[in-house]
Amino acid sequence: MNRLVNKLDLKWVRFTFRPPWSPATAAAKAGLSTLPPDPVVPSKKPFKAELVGGKRYSWCACGHSKKQPFCDGAHKTKASGLSPLRFVPEKDAAAWLCGCKHTGNPPYCDGTHKQDFIASAPLHEPTES
Ligand code: FES
Repeated sequence: MNRLVNKLDLKWVRFTFRPPWSPATAAAKAGLSTLPPDPVVPSKKPFKAELVGGKRYSWCACGHSKKQPFCDGAHKTKASGLSPLRFVPEKDAAAWLCGCKHTGNPPYCDGTHKQDFIASAPLHEPTES
């Protein structure tokens, strides 16, 4: 009798302390990643842009836009999980906007494009659809 109770207790303990379901757990069990995709590299140099003060811009963060360095909505189908960076410059000014999509100071170039991992990365060519 005591042995039967111990078996039941173990089942109860397993049932009681089963970790709760979460998308991250389910994705990990299925071998999927819940992390957003890495951006592709559409250019290994920054883009010079004449920015207008007070105007709202959307800087492409995924690298799939055909209107570099700005967003054309391509992230919705090609890089779900990545979103453009929206910014409003305070005044009219020329700026170097990141083209490699790996800057540490988005949307501006910080020189990251000079590093080896960008130099050796494949250049992304925009595709239809
Ligand atoms: S172009 Fe990306 S850091 Fe310069």
